[in-house]
Amino acid sequence: MLGIIGGSGVYELAGLQDTAWVAVDTPWGAPSDQIFIGTLPTPRGPARLAFLPRHGRGHLIPPSEVNYRANIAALKHLGVTDVLSLSAVGSLRADLPPGRFVLVDQFIDRTTARVKSFFGRGLVAHVSMAHPVCGRLGDHLQQALSALDIAATRGGTYLAIEGPQFSTLAESRLYRSWNADVIGMTNLPEAALAREAELCYASVAMVTDFDCWHPQHDAVTVDAIIQVLLSNADRGRALVAGVAEAACHDPTAAGCACRRALDHALITAPSA
Ligand code: ADE
Repeated sequence: MLGIIGGSGVYELAGLQDTAWVAVDTPWGAPSDQIFIGTLPTPRGPARLAFLPRHGRGHLIPPSEVNYRANIAALKHLGVTDVLSLSAVGSLRADLPPGRFVLVDQFIDRTTARVKSFFGRGLVAHVSMAHPVCGRLGDHLQQALSALDIAATRGGTYLAIEGPQFSTLAESRLYRSWNADVIGMTNLPEAALAREAELCYASVAMVTDFDCWHPQHDAVTVDAIIQVLLSNADRGRALVAGVAEAACHDPTAAGCACRRALDHALITAPSA
């Protein structure tokens, strides 16, 4: 089952059948909202989708207060195996203009106030984050993006800030000097928790602005971000529909290493 964590709008996907909003509770509390489930008929058979609005319907939850553990646990509980993250980002590169989709493949974590693991005292595990996104899902996304003629860049480093404020000019310049490509507030710890939950995770970052480093774009405004997001909503929906068939009918999915991330990660003695 393909899970989508994103902004609003995916639940307006044309052609979805047997839809329902379902409430899921988890040992880590409630996710951001109910989860919208539905079935998309495809030539290879039905594709089951589960969509979770990351900030809740109506965008009520700020990035620092999203219960990332509950969101990932709720999707897992519903039977999701692949997670597609859709999010708005600022660009730290002149050649990634607003409107560009970036298939993120690395992260730098500058968040400071989030719970980052399902593990802790009593059960200790250290999963590998060397390759934090699923290359198999990335291949499906790249194919769907190219079939839809959506301008996209494969690979990019996402720098996660705590927010909710945007960065200072000095920070923006610092992140550029670190060779980060895009900047956002939500993909961490989401990606790390997906890995701990042995879910395949891929992130499509939609560039909405040039952050504040760009000489011709002095400051980021929410108005400008929303304008770009609204004009991208149709392409976001098309991408979900485009990737659903391949993701849900991939005979190689079961062998994906993401789904065995805990095989060599648990360190607590079994008898403890
Ligand atoms: N989300 C969209 N644009 C952003 C920016 N410039 N910084 C952080 N998060 C963002």
